[in-house]
Amino acid sequence: MRTILVPVLTFAGFCSAFPEPSRGWRASGPGDARSPCPLLNALANHGYLPHDGRDIERDTIVDALEDAVNLDRPWSDIFFQEALSTVPVANATRFSLHHLSQQNAIEHDASLSRPDVFFSPHQDVFDPAVFAETRSYWPDPVITVRQAAAACAGRVRTANRTNPAFELNRAGAPASLAETAVYILAFGDVGAGTVRRELVEHFFENERLPFELGWEKSKFALTQKHLEDMSGRVAAESDALLGEAAKMGISIDAQRPLVRLEL
Ligand code: HEM
Ligand SMILES: *[C@@H]1O[C@H](CO)[C@@H](O)[C@H](O)[C@H]1NC(C)=O
Ligand SMILES: *[C@@H]1O[C@H](CO)[C@@H](O)[C@H](O)[C@H]1NC(C)=O
Ligand SMILES: [Mg+2]
Repeated sequence: MRTILVPVLTFAGFCSAFPEPSRGWRASGPGDARSPCPLLNALANHGYLPHDGRDIERDTIVDALEDAVNLDRPWSDIFFQEALSTVPVANATRFSLHHLSQQNAIEHDASLSRPDVFFSPHQDVFDPAVFAETRSYWPDPVITVRQAAAACAGRVRTANRTNPAFELNRAGAPASLAETAVYILAFGDVGAGTVRRELVEHFFENERLPFELGWEKSKFALTQKHLEDMSGRVAAESDALLGEAAKMGISIDAQRPLVRLEL
């Protein structure tokens, strides 16, 4: 008996020394606030952010983005300021995830996993039909910058064709490119500009970090410089795909400094 029990107990002890692969993930419930951002929803689901998605202060979000995906603090701080701009209260110091659904604040048309507001007010939930179009541009187990840009450009083309109120303004176009860039940065190989498709699908579909699939956060802090570089690579590819008439690239507004390529 002993000889069997000892290895079993040792194994159990070994396991409990490591965090659960689920990292405390729990689906959102009826009272929880969620957003059009799959990452912030995932962070609330895991408990890096309050599970109810409400009253998020600067340190909470900056710590969460560092702990979960190794974003550097200056970049996260800018995200936080952007988020505050969606709160309909003067001089707000905290935001809740549902504030982010405000149309054309940070939210924009032609999203990868949400229908345009013209089609649905439910910006806080994943939409399988929209994401099916996005995934259709990823034929291989590894997504390249070109394929990621094709999905982004494809959604712009579809939205432009089907939504009579379609708008991708001067903030929306770079935001769209940045959101494509940032999933490559968070889940992929920053130098190569590639990312495993199953990680990205798991992330979008479940609003969950892909620990179970062997993902680990970046070993180095991700900065705005990384975002600018990757957005530029995505922009170059999507401009080529959309053609001169619909340039989404950084050239869309020479006055708009690159540092404003936040989500
Ligand atoms: C405080 C930080 C952040 C804020 C306030 C924020 C906010 C938003 C908002 C409002 C959207 C909706 C835009 C739209 O599609 O209409 C969005 C989309 C998105 N965000 Fe975030 N975000 C943050 C950080 C991040 C980070 C660090 C990632 C890294 C993976 C990320 C990934 C995405 C992706 C991939 C989308 C596109 C979703 C889609 O097109 O369906 N976000 N974000
Ligand atoms: C918000 O801040 C501005 C500038 O500091 C100040 O003038 C204004 O009174 C504040 N508004 C409220 C409602 O606190
Ligand atoms: C939307 O379609 C119109 C007409 O085909 C085109 O001129 C315009 O550039 C398109 N906009 C985008 C952002 O693709
Ligand atoms: Mg949107």
